[in-house]
Amino acid sequence: MAVMRAGGFPFPREGADWWRSAVVYQIYPRSFADSDGDGIGDLAGVTSRVWHLAALGVDAVWLSPFYPSALADGGYDVDDHRDVDPRLGTLADFDELVGALHGAGLRIIADIVPNHTSDRHPWFREALASGRGARERERYIFRDGRGPGGAEPPNDWQSGFGGPAWEPVGDGQWYFHYFAKEQPDLNWDDPGVREDFRTTLRFWSDRGVDGFRIDVAHGLVKDLSEPFAPWSEVAEVTRADGTHPLWDREGVHEIYADWRRVFDEYDPPRFAVAEAAVHPTRRARYASAEGLGQAFNFQMQEAGFQPDEFRAVIDAGLADMRVSGSTTTWLLGCHDTLRVATRYGLPRDPDLNSHQVGQRWLLTNGAEPVADLALGERRARAAALVLLALPGATYVYQGDELGLHEVPDLPPESLQDPIATRSGGTAKGRDGCRVPLPWTPDGPSFGFGPGGAQPPQPAWFGRYAVSVEADDPDSTLSMYRRALSLRRSLTSEEEFAWVSDPDESVLHFVRPGGWHCVSNFGGAPVELPHGTVAVSSVRLEDGRLPREATAWVLVED
Ligand code: GLC
Repeated sequence: MAVMRAGGFPFPREGADWWRSAVVYQIYPRSFADSDGDGIGDLAGVTSRVWHLAALGVDAVWLSPFYPSALADGGYDVDDHRDVDPRLGTLADFDELVGALHGAGLRIIADIVPNHTSDRHPWFREALASGRGARERERYIFRDGRGPGGAEPPNDWQSGFGGPAWEPVGDGQWYFHYFAKEQPDLNWDDPGVREDFRTTLRFWSDRGVDGFRIDVAHGLVKDLSEPFAPWSEVAEVTRADGTHPLWDREGVHEIYADWRRVFDEYDPPRFAVAEAAVHPTRRARYASAEGLGQAFNFQMQEAGFQPDEFRAVIDAGLADMRVSGSTTTWLLGCHDTLRVATRYGLPRDPDLNSHQVGQRWLLTNGAEPVADLALGERRARAAALVLLALPGATYVYQGDELGLHEVPDLPPESLQDPIATRSGGTAKGRDGCRVPLPWTPDGPSFGFGPGGAQPPQPAWFGRYAVSVEADDPDSTLSMYRRALSLRRSLTSEEEFAWVSDPDESVLHFVRPGGWHCVSNFGGAPVELPHGTVAVSSVRLEDGRLPREATAWVLVED
């Protein structure tokens, strides 16, 4: 047995280090549960379904933005960082939700969006009203346009959502927005911006929030000095040396060291996880104890269902843990990606990565290539058991515990994602993974709420309803519940060892206490180690593990 130590930390469910091994459930509030029938999920809806989270057995909930917003980017266009969107409720509803989650032993993580505000934020309105050269414009990134009257954008840089990254304001100046034009980027050289985010972190911490997910944590600090590099040089987003003008500059770590001091004002200190799309060698800095403390590791979300790819991603994640001293995060999907059950059902294409295959499938409304949805679901279950057996934290996107699929054929008029409009028809966007959850097999919006659902749910959603799967011992939900409950009792030290197997389609590792995780990625059914099979992603065949499946086996020393 090749032993590799990932770290010597004991399992901390309580105390300051609770997050190291937590299972965090991501809620996209507008599509989780709707209490008032307006078709938009809300905070009271989440409170009414805390039982689902408790029965599932997760440790914490990460709430995607619930702040006032025009929804130009699903709520990541924030009008006011310290309030609740009236369609989603009130601050009193938020307090009630915190109480309900804490009462059920669950923690709550709020999403902080510091790279940009919405164009309806009072600061941006003031910036526009105050005119050229005004102090109020310094909170954002305004530049003079080129050519007569400043009619041309300052440079040729593009928005990540498609189209130019500059928007004119009518007086010869333009503002920079890496995302939608409704999301002007903040200027983090401005001390007032820094002070205001400290206030926001304290505001939510004082209300009982246990931690924060930091949106676009690798953005914030930028170098927009002239001469500008051409977009052809800037488009490549990851660099290993911190020289990119937009991403992962050294200066971001000053901000997070400052935030760490705010987090440490609390007992226990507030936790934070960075969404940092950076070169893998630079991820650990975001996860350091002097910084945010943890960073998302998106590699599993990009890997194919292949044993060699899983092995490489696991090795890289464990290596990160050794460098940062933090735990890594494992995740199969989120509100920005094609649902995992669908992704694993799409055929591999030697010329395209899995994201590109998914985009093609979405653009054909799910017609091409042909998806094997049952296979995808089966693989997603096998992968979930792998992730849940690894040391570190696992993030589960709402609906993935049901094996829910992407909805590829939403009516065009229901699409809300700016990617759909800004990409000029070359991308469909992320709405297909944000369709409101099914809770019951029938009824208006399948139990999502007393009214309809936005975007609308397809007829096949009922099959994946929480109440249907709760009654089926072979469902994905039942598997998740069993695995999460076992994980609670099995997790101890953050140690991990590969167990070599001559069969290349088998991935096998062991955790302390004789907790073996064995996956068969293909081929004939395989023998399992002698012990008790605690959970398996599909039924065993004559005691053997069939293809595309994972089992946890408890082996006595
Ligand atoms: C993050 C969010 C994504 C959002 C973007 C801009 O990547 O996950 O949903 O569109 O930031 O805020």
